[in-house]
Amino acid sequence: MTPPFKRILKILSFIIGAILALLFLLVGYVTVSWDNSVDRRVPQMNAPTDSASMARGRFLYETSAQCWQCHGENRSPAGLPSGGAVEDLRDLGPGFGVWYIPNITPDKETGIGTWTDGELVRLLREGIKKDGRPAFIMPSERFNGLSDDDVLSLVAYLRSLPAVRNSVPPHEPSLVAKALFSFGIMKAQPEIKEVVKAPPRGVTVEWGKYLTAHASLCMDCHSAVDLSTGQFYKDSLLSGGNFPFGKKGPGQPYDAPTFAFGRNITPDPETGIGSWTEAQFLDAVRIGIRPDGTVLVGHMPYAYIGLWPDDDLRAVFQYLKSVPPVRKLIPPVEFGKIFSEGRGIVLGAAVFDTYCKSCHGEAGKGAPPTKLVLAEIANTIDDATLEKFIVQGQSSLRMPGFGKTLSRDQLSDLVAYIRTLNKQKVISAR
Ligand code: HEC
Ligand code: HEC
Ligand code: HEC
Repeated sequence: MTPPFKRILKILSFIIGAILALLFLLVGYVTVSWDNSVDRRVPQMNAPTDSASMARGRFLYETSAQCWQCHGENRSPAGLPSGGAVEDLRDLGPGFGVWYIPNITPDKETGIGTWTDGELVRLLREGIKKDGRPAFIMPSERFNGLSDDDVLSLVAYLRSLPAVRNSVPPHEPSLVAKALFSFGIMKAQPEIKEVVKAPPRGVTVEWGKYLTAHASLCMDCHSAVDLSTGQFYKDSLLSGGNFPFGKKGPGQPYDAPTFAFGRNITPDPETGIGSWTEAQFLDAVRIGIRPDGTVLVGHMPYAYIGLWPDDDLRAVFQYLKSVPPVRKLIPPVEFGKIFSEGRGIVLGAAVFDTYCKSCHGEAGKGAPPTKLVLAEIANTIDDATLEKFIVQGQSSLRMPGFGKTLSRDQLSDLVAYIRTLNKQKVISAR
């Protein structure tokens, strides 16, 4: 080898060595620093015990902020939030690892039994765990704006639940997720030092904003996530999501029969809800009826949002009309293979899963929107009357009509499925 070539080789190996050393240092830094605790005081606050606060806490948990969407057993409001559900984010964007939904029942060893009220308030609003580490996935960015009264009511309600002993495995964050924490992209929410009061209740933009942006999950489901950072795109909030609800993935262990994106609910007249009247909006969020008469799929939790007071929903409409319109077309609902290939009660079960389960519960056994047990009531009605009722609905009861949504075949298969409800527990709609 000639000397200059040797020299180049030397320089090159030096550069490669330096890069490797830097990478090594970086990985070392990320591994050590990603879960550094945040030096932040624990607020001195005590949860109330009166029944009005307890009821408000329950309303927030079940109907408004819908904590069960992640924490509930089978992601349903029916079970206790004893945790363990898997958030498998390995294939999402650069891969964020595997995360587990924690047990938030008051069990002392496996749940939140030893957390103080102040620690719970800090977790909910500031996204900092008991050990001072920032929380991931938990929507504290939204709950950061919750009033003192509301956040304490939530704490009071959690404390009132029966303790369930269920040990949840530790998270398995990927290097990318760790790096996002290390470099402060994923971080705790701003500290709250002052008393926070909700705006006065009324049909106003301010109250509507409080409900939409802080006391519910509208923002989370109706906004797109930047998959390189796991953060919502702040400049296009509410213009539609980029996760199809129902598709196997984050928060969804298997494919549902139907997939749907949270739609664009900014006031863009063509791609959003800019041309909707207040009455049309109320029909959509109360009973799931779109302006064209078709019914929204159950991934949109109108079964619960419809239980809000009408004036609160009017306030949400006022707020949605006030946000900047974003022009973004969201793909329509996608019906899985079972809708084209399934027949008989298999198709009936898929239709039920898509459109009826959110209000009538698993196998029609009842859910918070109606305690009626479908199997029992259906036995007292003949097929023709049952079909007619499903086609027409009854808006005074908050039961949507499906005449414009289901074909004749789907209707009769649905009725055939309902007839099986008292014979078998659950027919898998997968
Ligand atoms: C989008 C899913 C999601 C929703 C909605 C959600 N959470 Fe969480 N929550 C999580 C995840 C994931 C964690 C674990 C965070 C971590 O360990 O980094 C968590 C953590 C918690 C913790 C701390 C438990 C612990 O052991 O660390 C509490 C308490 C809690 N959530 C309560 C609530 C309440 C109350 C609501 C509704 C107001 C709610 N969550 C809504 C996903 C969610
Ligand atoms: C768990 C996720 C989720 C939450 C929470 C949620 N939505 Fe939705 N929403 C959806 C999905 C998915 C659709 C699409 C359903 C369909 O196309 O059949 C939808 C559809 C809608 C529509 C119909 C829009 C159209 O163009 O047809 C409106 C209006 C709406 N949501 C408003 C709201 C409001 C207001 C809130 C909060 C109070 C909210 N949503 C909370 C998932 C959600
Ligand atoms: C937005 C919530 C909602 C959805 C979605 C919904 N229902 Fe209902 N349904 C109700 C309510 C509320 C009642 C009245 C319950 C009561 O009387 O307590 C009801 C009543 C019924 C009844 C009983 C009628 C009677 O004579 O008492 C049948 C049957 C029924 N629904 C079938 C269905 C089927 C099938 C689907 C899906 C295609 C469906 N429902 C979707 C809310 C809903």
